[in-house]
Amino acid sequence: MFLQYRLSVLLLVSCIFLAACIGSKKLLEREKTDSKTLLFSRNKGNCLACHVIEDGELAGNIGPELKNLSQKFDTKTQLRDFIWNASVFNPKTAMPPFGKNKILTMEEIDLIVNYLWKL
Ligand code: HEC
Repeated sequence: MFLQYRLSVLLLVSCIFLAACIGSKKLLEREKTDSKTLLFSRNKGNCLACHVIEDGELAGNIGPELKNLSQKFDTKTQLRDFIWNASVFNPKTAMPPFGKNKILTMEEIDLIVNYLWKL
């Protein structure tokens, strides 16, 4: 009787754990899709107009390919600051100041940064 009880508790705990895993995986998948939408869509980041990005089609080459950014920037905050307003880093840049000009919100830039950091 006691053993049965313990077994069912164990089963329940495993189910909850599994559900949590599936849930967080789904969340990660969604974040990935959202980030890609922001990067690729013409009325949002439209980063593809100037940058080659993995999985992106018809990319421009005004800027460098966006990859290995974790080696080019010291921290994610620095990358975020760059996307917020690239002209702070290079006054003559052709890249629009996405945050400063309110093209993207802070939350949207954070999503993009988390995604780009892994490419
Ligand atoms: C109009 C063209 C243009 C668009 C659109 C653009 N960029 Fe850029 N980007 C550039 C250029 C040019 C550079 C090269 C550095 C410079 O000029 O400051 C650059 C550099 C970068 C860098 C530094 C890369 C490195 O290897 O040093 C990052 C990161 C970046 N852009 C992210 C983005 C993101 C994210 C978007 C979309 C939200 C975007 N860019 C949209 C033109 C653009």
